[in-house]
Amino acid sequence: MGVGTVDTVMQTTQNDIFLRACRRQAVPRTPLWFMRQAGRYLPEYRAVRSQHDFLTMVRTPELAARVTVQPVEILGVDAAILFSDIMVVPEAMGMILHMVEGKGPVLPEPIRTRAHVEALPHPDPESALGYVMGAIRQTRGALDGRVPLIGFSGAPWTLAAYMVEGHGSKTFRRAKAMVYGEAALAHALLGRVADAVGDYLLAQAAAGAQALQIFDTWGGLLPAPEFAEFSLAYIARVVSRLREANVPVIVFCKDCAHSLEAIADTGCDVIGIDWGTDLAEARRRVGARCALQGNLDPAVLFAPPEVAARHSVDVLERFGRGEGHIFNLGHGILPETPVASVRAMIAAVADESPRYHD
Ligand code: CP3
Repeated sequence: MGVGTVDTVMQTTQNDIFLRACRRQAVPRTPLWFMRQAGRYLPEYRAVRSQHDFLTMVRTPELAARVTVQPVEILGVDAAILFSDIMVVPEAMGMILHMVEGKGPVLPEPIRTRAHVEALPHPDPESALGYVMGAIRQTRGALDGRVPLIGFSGAPWTLAAYMVEGHGSKTFRRAKAMVYGEAALAHALLGRVADAVGDYLLAQAAAGAQALQIFDTWGGLLPAPEFAEFSLAYIARVVSRLREANVPVIVFCKDCAHSLEAIADTGCDVIGIDWGTDLAEARRRVGARCALQGNLDPAVLFAPPEVAARHSVDVLERFGRGEGHIFNLGHGILPETPVASVRAMIAAVADESPRYHD
């Protein structure tokens, strides 16, 4: 991808306010998309999902493209995020992956030894993850320039945590035990995962992803010094490799407000702010270094629509006037969320945000 990419995107993307906000450029209103927007709260997603299991949808570009475009057409969000999952990378590294209904990802042969780490293959994204690249190409075609497409990956630490633990967990005690007790082994694993993630995200940009988000869902399990050493150092390595792709990079680390300045130091363009963090304080601390994305509590959407609208305006107010805010939830939307509240949030941001811009 050369320097021409951004110009090409500007010409072909009709609504580019999301990409402009990522770069802290002027926009007439605050752009909005939300994490897990292609998901079970939408009846149209459930209709597709009732016919296919989750991993089949992920691996079939036509189905992934179809549900990726749904929130754009049904709700009018300002960006699409590719329908996929962070767990495709461990699978491409040779691990067996099951997605268990109501439980999430399960890896029945987790990593516990150095021999296992050293045996992990380095996946070539175009062959091992070719279905993701196919889904990106099909989705760009289906979007036809209406809004930009965001690609994503799990952060090395979040992926490694699942690879060591074998499944989701409140404590991830085995993964944390590796950090504290076998630091060299943890670094060996994280180095391999970071190399795979870097190649994977570069391939997504080459296939047509116009922004890239790194999800560190489990960054908050580590205290600040371990977060810096075992998570952020590898995110920084990935971000610096992504500079050549010339697309905005968003870093979302859940429950890591202790390290906002260090996250900005990775060189990312946008920091995702979780719902537990005050957006005004985040802006004071980060200043002009990065745009901020967030951070409505997803649970607010279970209150009546007018409450969702009021809290959405409150998020705009916490960021305040000026450029560099992308409205989002402070974590993924929950499966049973009423669509009426989602619509109220979107309408409130569309109606009220122009007064926060010149
Ligand atoms: O944001 C989007 O709309 C894009 C799609 C997306 C999915 N997963 C679809 C999905 C994205 C960006 C992800 C990332 C992801 N996957 C993360 C990081 C983001 C975060 O929420 O912190 C994590 C930790 C995973 C692992 C994972 N996959 C979990 C914990 C689950 C939920 C299990 C459950 O049943 O609730 C999944 C499954 C999953 N990924 C679903 C969707 C729409 C639900 C699958 C279904 O339809 O049954």
